[in-house]
Amino acid sequence: MQTIEIEALQETALQSIAAASSSKELEQVRIAVLGKKGSLTQVLRSMGSVPQEERASLGASVNTARVQLEEALELRASELKALEQSAAIKAESVDVTLPGRSQPIGSEHLISRLTREIVEVFRGIGYRVVEGPEVETEYYNFTALNAPADHPSRSQQDTFYVHDRSGTESRVFGESEVLLRPQTSPAQVRVMENDELPIYILAPGRVYRRDTADPSHLPQFTQIEGLVVDKGISFAHLKGTLEYFCKEIFGPERKTRFRPHFFPFTEPSAEVDVSCGICGGSGCRFCGGTGWLEILGCGMVDPNVFGFVDINPEEYSGFAFGMGVERIACLKYDVPDLRMLLEGDMRFLRQF
Ligand code: DAH
Repeated sequence: MQTIEIEALQETALQSIAAASSSKELEQVRIAVLGKKGSLTQVLRSMGSVPQEERASLGASVNTARVQLEEALELRASELKALEQSAAIKAESVDVTLPGRSQPIGSEHLISRLTREIVEVFRGIGYRVVEGPEVETEYYNFTALNAPADHPSRSQQDTFYVHDRSGTESRVFGESEVLLRPQTSPAQVRVMENDELPIYILAPGRVYRRDTADPSHLPQFTQIEGLVVDKGISFAHLKGTLEYFCKEIFGPERKTRFRPHFFPFTEPSAEVDVSCGICGGSGCRFCGGTGWLEILGCGMVDPNVFGFVDINPEEYSGFAFGMGVERIACLKYDVPDLRMLLEGDMRFLRQF
């Protein structure tokens, strides 16, 4: 080994150090030169076999080379470290001038909001809120509401019955079949059975019917039932109450009318219409040319219903009403199709 060779080795190593483009690469260069099996380390190890007279000068050149290479390595290491640090900072930096990504905030669904608004109107005049079960018995839904045994809505075509797993036999509770309530009216019976008189209640909740969804039907929707039982309650109270409710919900300019109708649990019974908000009552496509929109059913509690819950009809009288919230929402906001309320289209829902 000659001094000149050591100088060449040093020169190549210095080039590699300068060319290293990352701390990792630089470390590999260091290992290749100064590591246990590095090129310069091997020269140092072979010093024993160098003749005595050359040893001192050769040893000096190897040492100089080692010191210079170590210095070069250290210098390049700190250069690379600085470069790598500033690259990392750049990669992690945030452009604070970019517009932010906003998280859309959800809002109460139109049906929940309208249900709450209707409930508030009645709470303001002294009603309290009760809830009946959605899975009901035929007794509460039909029998105790004075529906005759052959009433068509009792049929399997109109009402969902809860069947045994076999699918053939119906579930029975006590003597009564189990069903998904098609109306909130059974809540009336439960309240009259359990609560003290007088009664001023509202019973909102989900109901189920064997209907296919179309513009005016949904297989599941929301109803609000109302019931008053007190001494001296007359049809005039019913009219005044529902007129007040209509003006609160639809606006003071809207008129109401009561049309005679039939419900098994009320006598007399009526359907209530509100004047059309689009044409103001003169007749248009939205109201089918009549100027009126049907919004609910109502009537004076039938004495036969009082018979099922042991209330004396000579002493007490009452009225009841039931409305579909989805239908009222459509009439209030001129929505042409009930299904739009359930589709979850944000362009539609954002309007309310
Ligand atoms: N339950 C009736 C229905 O679903 C609505 C109704 C009508 C409720 C008259 C009442 C009432 O309480 O008195 O069509």
